[in-house]
Amino acid sequence: MNKAILGFSKLSKEEKIKWIVKEYFSDSSEAITLLKNYWNSDEKIQKLHDEFIENTISNFYIPLGVAPNFLINGKYKSIPMAIEESSVVAAASKAAKFWSTRGGFKATVINTEKIGQVHFIFKGDESKLALFFAQTKSRFLEDTENITKNMKKRGGGILDIILKDKTNLLPNYYQLYATFDTKDSMGANFINSCLEQFAKTLKIEASNYEIFSEDEKNIEVVMSILSNYVPNCVVRAEVSCPVDLLVEKHIPNPKEFAKKFIQAIQIAEIEPYRAVTHNKGIMNGIDAVVLATGNDFRAVEAGIHAYASRNGSYSSLSHAKIENDIFTFWMEVPLALGTVGGLTSLHPLAKFSLEILENPSAKELMQFVAVAGLAQNFAALRSLTTSGIQEGHMKMHLNNILNQFKATEEESVLIRRHFKHHAVSHNAVVDYIENLRKQF
Ligand code: MEV
Repeated sequence: MNKAILGFSKLSKEEKIKWIVKEYFSDSSEAITLLKNYWNSDEKIQKLHDEFIENTISNFYIPLGVAPNFLINGKYKSIPMAIEESSVVAAASKAAKFWSTRGGFKATVINTEKIGQVHFIFKGDESKLALFFAQTKSRFLEDTENITKNMKKRGGGILDIILKDKTNLLPNYYQLYATFDTKDSMGANFINSCLEQFAKTLKIEASNYEIFSEDEKNIEVVMSILSNYVPNCVVRAEVSCPVDLLVEKHIPNPKEFAKKFIQAIQIAEIEPYRAVTHNKGIMNGIDAVVLATGNDFRAVEAGIHAYASRNGSYSSLSHAKIENDIFTFWMEVPLALGTVGGLTSLHPLAKFSLEILENPSAKELMQFVAVAGLAQNFAALRSLTTSGIQEGHMKMHLNNILNQFKATEEESVLIRRHFKHHAVSHNAVVDYIENLRKQF
């Protein structure tokens, strides 16, 4: 097909499906059956999902798993994770168990400030603008009182607004730079509503400001939007134990292990190619919990990667050291999360995940998410610096290969038995299945 369709969003769901399958599928009834197989049998639940976005035609499943035995600040937690990558939940569970007998994870929220900006163009005298802002600052707060009323009752609200002169970077470019505390909500709607009101106030007040010339009165607002970069909304997660206590079946020489583990981190600290993959492993844990709890993983990803580059070069989020024979492994990450509002209460499984976490505050969720990221990083580095990553990964991936080849129950039992004692590789499994099938 090489033509546009007009008014697609206005079609009914059935009409949209009809159009899609007619345009892109040779067997339209098979395609329709596939889409409908993924509909929820409960019409109400399906309608809820249909309405999350525009043009919904079906649901796209991702497994929801649970990694138990996370000892965090002295309390056991089971962590829900929504992720498709085969080894992630297994790795998290393994790391959780490992650290549960070595003091567990410690997590602390360092700060919780969020940021929003009104980006605007002012052509005129900067000192007059600064005076205007000083004289009208309280007006910005008054004009947003309707929006901030409830948030203030919950102990949050606008923390401050400042004027930023960015004209050295872009001619005539200024910002109203505002900071917020949004308590247990992620706060995107709250922040954006405040900012849009600031923009209105800015324009109105400027147009009536007598000291301004006609040009100066005409402030151009370019946009008003929160920033997903939240370097002052940071949580720290940490594990530590005497080096000798790192010993276990796969770590016969803990000193050697700790040394190599720290070297692996040092490489990620100074080498961006490695840092990206290192941090990707951390994001395996972070994204999975963020997604399971109905939070915005794209916002979290963007903010965290910006934070990883804050010193001018992309670097490791995690760090490790040995001091006085104590091995310490830690990470600080910015996380703007919510446990009320948005999808958190709307998506039944997000709500369910939050219940597994015993309905945490946003601060507690920040801690659990950071811990999941650190655990994932520990599991990855432990494998990478000892047996290599493929052994565990391919063991988990075996299921995917069996499904790809539509292995029967009997075949699966035989294949699993064989690969308990043999290295799993795609080719080895395919060869084994083919041989098996030749025999029967
Ligand atoms: C795979 O999803 C993640 C790893 O590549 C992370 C890492 O290399 O540290 C194993």
